[in-house]
Amino acid sequence: MAFFSHQVCRGFSSSAVRNVVIKHVTIIGSGQMGAGIAQVAASTGHSVTLVDTSDDILKKSVKGIEGSLRRVVKKKFADKPEAGEEFIQKVLQNVSTSTDAGSVVQGSDLVLEAIVENLKIKQDIFGQLDKVAPQHTIFASNTSSLPISDIASSTSRLDRFGGLHFFNPVPMMKLVEVIGTSATSQETFDSLLNFSKVLGKTPVSCKDTPGFIVNRLLVPYIMEAVRLHERGHGSKEDIDIAMKLGAGYPMGPLELADFVGLDTAKFIIDGWSAMDPSNPLFAPSELLNKKVAEGKLGRKTGEGFYKYKILCVQ
Ligand code: 3HC
Repeated sequence: MAFFSHQVCRGFSSSAVRNVVIKHVTIIGSGQMGAGIAQVAASTGHSVTLVDTSDDILKKSVKGIEGSLRRVVKKKFADKPEAGEEFIQKVLQNVSTSTDAGSVVQGSDLVLEAIVENLKIKQDIFGQLDKVAPQHTIFASNTSSLPISDIASSTSRLDRFGGLHFFNPVPMMKLVEVIGTSATSQETFDSLLNFSKVLGKTPVSCKDTPGFIVNRLLVPYIMEAVRLHERGHGSKEDIDIAMKLGAGYPMGPLELADFVGLDTAKFIIDGWSAMDPSNPLFAPSELLNKKVAEGKLGRKTGEGFYKYKILCVQ
């Protein structure tokens, strides 16, 4: 009997849930991406709850958001510093924090996950939240390379599950990839598209294919630059200058690899290489593997292809 009523509930859900206007957002993971998304959502009038495993991490994240807001305000309110300060305070008031996702999703229209790229952990979190989140709540992942349908499979809301892929640094990058699986309902997809627009971003529609659009093109390009350098066919500086001045990119590929994180690049290419080992675009690089093994992960650790001063997470 209980099983039957559960089935009926699910049957109603996709047709009963029309376009959800997203006002309250829970963001799981307060790292660089989660904090950036929280900042943009709070800046556009959404109430945001940022969730992570400890109050210390959350405090650092909110401090990072404040720092990034100051950079935005310096430009946007150049002639009106008081209005700028008021804006910062207003945005920060829209951000609350919690270490207990289960208790905060109750009031959420959207739960957006931006945690470590580990399928099992993502599935576990969404599986648990699925039991307590309201029926209308949309779930989305900011994964850079894992299939959205695999993450969604731990939940019973396949029609209300999609991908929202943001780019680093989130406050500056105008694009959001909106990903629909074969089970994502049109209402959910439209709500996610609309939410991206309300954030002031330009959304593009993507299929649930490896790397969606941007990373499918960007990661092989970065890896080709790493391999070119590894073969001794160009210094890192020359490769970066070449692509900046010869192709108009804001950062060279090795600079960008450091910015994105060498561990992230390795994770993506290893996954794709396992999926299609014969594809030369997905070939791993010994140099990249060595840097990651040495903990030289790019900007966040102070060294990757280049050395950096560690100032702030944002
Ligand atoms: N928050 C707020 N404002 C910021 C900011 C941040 N995090 N980062 C930059 N800005 C703004 C500030 O106004 C800054 O001025 P300030 O230094 O006086 O505060 C201004 O941008 C200029 O910044 P910079 O002088 O540091 O340098 P640039 O002019 O080169 O701009 C950049 C920085 C926007 C990061 C630019 O270099 C760029 O577009 N780089 C390419 C980034 C990119 O390709 N990202 C995508 C990565 S792939 C990804 O994220 C997907 C994932 O799945 C792997």
